[in-house]
Amino acid sequence: MNLVSNYGTLPLSYTDEGNLLLLDQRKLPYKTEYFDATFFENVCIAIKDMIVRGAPSIGCVAAFGLAMEAIRLAEKHKQKEDFLLALDEACLVLQATRPTAVNLMNATNVIKDKAHFLATKNTKEIADQLMLEAKRYMQESIDVNKKLSDYGVELVPQNASILTHCNAGSIAACGWGTALGVMRSAQMAGKNIQAFVGETRPRQQGARLTMWELNQDEIPATLICDTMTGHFMKAKSIDMIVVGADRICANGDTANKIGTYNLAVLAKHHNIPFYVAAPLSTFDPDLESGDLIPIELRDQSEVTHIADLDNQVSVTIENAKAHNPAFDVTPASLIHAFITEAGILRPPFKDSIATLGLARALLDKPVV
Ligand code: MRU
Repeated sequence: MNLVSNYGTLPLSYTDEGNLLLLDQRKLPYKTEYFDATFFENVCIAIKDMIVRGAPSIGCVAAFGLAMEAIRLAEKHKQKEDFLLALDEACLVLQATRPTAVNLMNATNVIKDKAHFLATKNTKEIADQLMLEAKRYMQESIDVNKKLSDYGVELVPQNASILTHCNAGSIAACGWGTALGVMRSAQMAGKNIQAFVGETRPRQQGARLTMWELNQDEIPATLICDTMTGHFMKAKSIDMIVVGADRICANGDTANKIGTYNLAVLAKHHNIPFYVAAPLSTFDPDLESGDLIPIELRDQSEVTHIADLDNQVSVTIENAKAHNPAFDVTPASLIHAFITEAGILRPPFKDSIATLGLARALLDKPVV
């Protein structure tokens, strides 16, 4: 199995035999292993356990998961009403696996809504169409990421040192990447860049995954602990910060991996531009502000221990109490711009995000 493409390493493969195989992101960079997510229960496990992670990749895997479930449900239910009811239930089960990344809700709603839209066809025909829709959704994700990354190039100065957090590369964004996509596109456009990568405790997506992807792209990268970011900003080692996002509200408040908010506050203090790169599928215009974003709480063992492949190594006393919110919310006032496939969105974000309703229909045209 080889998931390397012109758009970076992809997080999934849907095979001709109808199997869904996922690159096991828990094991990188130590081992390249694939997880069989052909059965619906395994799709849910894969998202919950972060075998696949990163908002757009979660969305794409969920879209395939629901389409594959539709194929099974079509065998079981010839009556359309029963089929649609069962599909709606499966959609809700998938949506409950991780609450913060809105791409999961958007992707599964695309599949579910299509099923209801096609209700004049028989259940098998509907299921076949849903699989085509999942494939289209994934291809769109790749195209969109490339497009937004290319828009981001204008924000990158020559000889830039760019700090990023967590992993917003091809394996997280399902093709090319968002924050890492901007770096990729900038390097391809001839800009001389280097990356600073925060390790991203507790799951170390920066140390394990971003360092791995940047190495594949031959973008020079320096790993730092999350606690060192203020030091390097003060020392003027960082020219700009680019991160991904899991949910962006109508006012521009943005949920991303825990620790992003710290970076944005430090960036403001040190007068460093702070950018968020994300596709339109990460926007949630129905949510007025960041206070309303559901923040996923994960098991405290991720904080009390460090995972080392199959081992859990304790970093504290036995039975230590710990908290583990997986995301934080960066207020819009700390964000310089959003890099999207519809162009660069600048403040006031309430207005620029409101224009996205129009931009969705006219994606070939930048909104600014
Ligand atoms: O918990 P994770 O690893 O799924 O969190 C991922 C992030 O926070 C990413 O920055 C975000 O999803 C953007 S991925 C292009």
